[in-house]
Amino acid sequence: MTNREQLNQIRGEVGVCRNCELWRNATNPVPGEGNPEARILLIGEAPGFHEDTQGKPFVGNSGKFLTQLLESAGLSREDVFITNVVKHRPPGNRDPLPDEMAACAHFLHRQIEIIDPDVIVTLGRFSMSMYFPGERIGRIHGQPKEVNGRFIVPMYHPAAALHNGALRPDLEADFQKLPRLLAEREKAREAERARAQQPHQQSLF
Ligand code: URA
Repeated sequence: MTNREQLNQIRGEVGVCRNCELWRNATNPVPGEGNPEARILLIGEAPGFHEDTQGKPFVGNSGKFLTQLLESAGLSREDVFITNVVKHRPPGNRDPLPDEMAACAHFLHRQIEIIDPDVIVTLGRFSMSMYFPGERIGRIHGQPKEVNGRFIVPMYHPAAALHNGALRPDLEADFQKLPRLLAEREKAREAERARAQQPHQQSLF
């Protein structure tokens, strides 16, 4: 199956998922969307009002800001894949509960496995906590960590920077790091390819 077909399968499963109670108050599931071959995967927190209405991630105010941030780094929404820790809107936009995140986690893990991105950007503390448990975002934002051959980059949530303008320059600067990280992974892949093409060459030393 192609990446697109596998992601569509997940989309269907999210639509009928009853592993937690969030579906009861939701209008639409929001499994995520974007390029099935994306090199960058962004993980937010949970759908809000507009996302729930449209069934698409990051389409409200923080989504518009996210689009601007991507464009400022020379990227478009068509280049990336955008999803959330939980795929249905929590009532009244409350924080997702640990049980809800645990019930939904397998969808995200499968999306990551299928897309196999070079860079994962966590937006806000919920997705950050999956890779940096116990850390504080103010301390580690913008600092990439290499995990299984890919970079995980924790960043402020765009909504946080819209509420508190003092965070905005940091978030903007963190997005500017993405092209360099992509180039670094591409270079590493080229080096791996070159090594694989000379499997029988013996070292003289
Ligand atoms: N905030 C999120 O974390 N995700 C969305 O999809 C929209 C707003």
